[in-house]
Amino acid sequence: MFSHEIHCQYYSQEDLLGAGCLDIRMAMQAAEEAIIAFDQGDVIFPDKIVQIFNDDTQERINCLPATFKTRKICGVKWVSVFPPNPVKHGIQNLSAVIILSEIEHGFPIAFMEGTLCSNVRVGSMGALAAKHLARQDAETIGFIGAGEQAKMHLIAMKTALPSLKRCFVAAKLPSEEAQFLKEMSPILSDMEIVACDSDLRRAVVDADVIVTATSAQAPLLKAGWIKPGAFYSHVGGWEDEFAVAKLCDKIVCDDWETVKHRTQTLSRIYQAGEMTDADIHADLVDILMGRKPGRENNEERIYFNAVGLAYVDVAIAVAMYERAAEAGMGQDLKIQHEMIFEHAHLKDWVRV
Ligand SMILES: NC(=O)c1ccc[n+]([C@@H]2O[C@H](COP(=O)([O-])OP(=O)(O)OC[C@H]3O[C@@H](n4cnc5c(N)ncnc54)[C@H](O)[C@@H]3O)[C@@H](O)[C@H]2O)c1
Repeated sequence: MFSHEIHCQYYSQEDLLGAGCLDIRMAMQAAEEAIIAFDQGDVIFPDKIVQIFNDDTQERINCLPATFKTRKICGVKWVSVFPPNPVKHGIQNLSAVIILSEIEHGFPIAFMEGTLCSNVRVGSMGALAAKHLARQDAETIGFIGAGEQAKMHLIAMKTALPSLKRCFVAAKLPSEEAQFLKEMSPILSDMEIVACDSDLRRAVVDADVIVTATSAQAPLLKAGWIKPGAFYSHVGGWEDEFAVAKLCDKIVCDDWETVKHRTQTLSRIYQAGEMTDADIHADLVDILMGRKPGRENNEERIYFNAVGLAYVDVAIAVAMYERAAEAGMGQDLKIQHEMIFEHAHLKDWVRV
């Protein structure tokens, strides 16, 4: 007799954190392997499904699946982005859950909190880019935006660039900068973190690495503030003036074909007819595979924009799942005990 039970493991954010899944090195490795697997045709990656509930605020829930054929694992990220949440309700903008399934029988194997994975993915893509595109002696990092992505990006950049010593941060409200300091100082106790009292220029003007991670939709970062040799990781939507990309010696994307159809600054420049495909130096995969050079000297200004590739989220979720399972974390979720018509009491339950 075959068992017809279906089980999967449930992992809360605390289970994942407790198992050591906030590990940027692990995520960078999973991201790099996923990018190479995709390049080699080993990933099924359908278009994402987008449901926008408010055109003005862009409140939305997206469904993003991907399958790794050789690893025989399929996953989906169900992610909501509600930009007014932090200011209006004091709660996070982005929240996600992830389901992983094996593809021998098609059964689910894990149901996981996904905000951690999603934010780690954003940070680790920035870190992977920084490994190849930032000055490896970078000491100063400057942030415009002090929210959830900015915090994860700081951990990620410090992992990729251990030489970082100082962090300047500017946000819309000085209270957000204070919160950033309060939360990040204990984690990165060897870094000096300086709040800039909403002075955006001060946050970035001396920075070897610049990160914008805002919900602004405005040209906050100015080209004149970017020093030679700087690496710029653009995380949000429209948050830098067009002159920034035009000044940079190299522009690298996670996937330019995807980026150019979206609404970030690079897409806006492209759609305005002020940028062509030829202005893009490379996708990150070209640099990972050695098809295009990364940083070639200490004077280059380099612009990186990752729009987010959900197969990378799924790959990082798999790495987190394996680590959490190994650590014995999580709870068993019984999906079904037996098949529908095997239930002895079905006649009492069915409503005809
Ligand atoms: N590229 C990706 O893959 C990816 C993934 C997730 C989120 N994002 C984007 O990253 C951005 C940040 O997300 P988050 O979750 O950190 O949001 P958040 O709401 O936690 O933080 C937003 C930050 O933007 C700052 N900000 C807004 N307007 C500003 C202004 N005029 N001047 C200075 N600072 C300003 C706020 O002060 C705040 O610190 C959003 O645009 C989000 O859509 C990108």
